[in-house]
Amino acid sequence: MSSAESRISLREITRDNIYEVLRLRVTDDQRVFVADNAVSLAETWVEPSFRPLAIYAGEELVGFTMYGLEEATGRWWIIRLMIVPEHQGRGYGRAAMNVLTQVMMEREAASEVVTSCDPANVVARHLYSSLGFHETGEIDDGEVVMVRTLAPREGW
Ligand SMILES: CC(C)(COP(=O)(O)OP(=O)(O)OC[C@H]1O[C@@H](n2cnc3c(N)ncnc32)[C@H](O)[C@@H]1OP(=O)(O)O)[C@@H](O)C(=O)NCCC(=O)NCCS
Repeated sequence: MSSAESRISLREITRDNIYEVLRLRVTDDQRVFVADNAVSLAETWVEPSFRPLAIYAGEELVGFTMYGLEEATGRWWIIRLMIVPEHQGRGYGRAAMNVLTQVMMEREAASEVVTSCDPANVVARHLYSSLGFHETGEIDDGEVVMVRTLAPREGW
């Protein structure tokens, strides 16, 4: 486990942190890559399987993620991931992905996880492929679809 990973935890959205989560923003240049957190939280109203989670480094809120089931295919997706600009590049995005996939294995018994990103999003594309996501060749809403088989990691 990396030092970033040991600091990262994923927590439920509650009445204590929801407004702070709603205020989280990426840079203007990155806004095209990820929906506002308000949009993600609104989607949970109509998609009962969607699970939004706040990303903390220690006790500090540093980002947001959301996963959920694609009912038509039965595939589990990582639907959103964002880290606030002042905390980007510190390994938190990578650590959050590792913690999240572990949660999806344990809580949902997911054996495979799917995500997607804008083809121009070089940081996310590099991050996902370095975590073992392979491009499937599918394009979903203009985004490159990537899939990773989950297996328990050594050391857990
Ligand atoms: C994509 C995102 C979640 C990555 O989070 P992060 O905490 O910055 O990423 P990490 O620090 O864990 O770094 C992951 C990898 O990306 C690289 N990286 C991070 N920021 C980078 C930058 N600005 N330029 C180039 N590479 C960068 C790191 O070097 C690292 O690669 P390495 O481990 O091989 O060195 C974050 O940049 C973000 O929120 N971006 C805007 C929203 C977005 O694009 N979300 C994803 C939608 S698909």
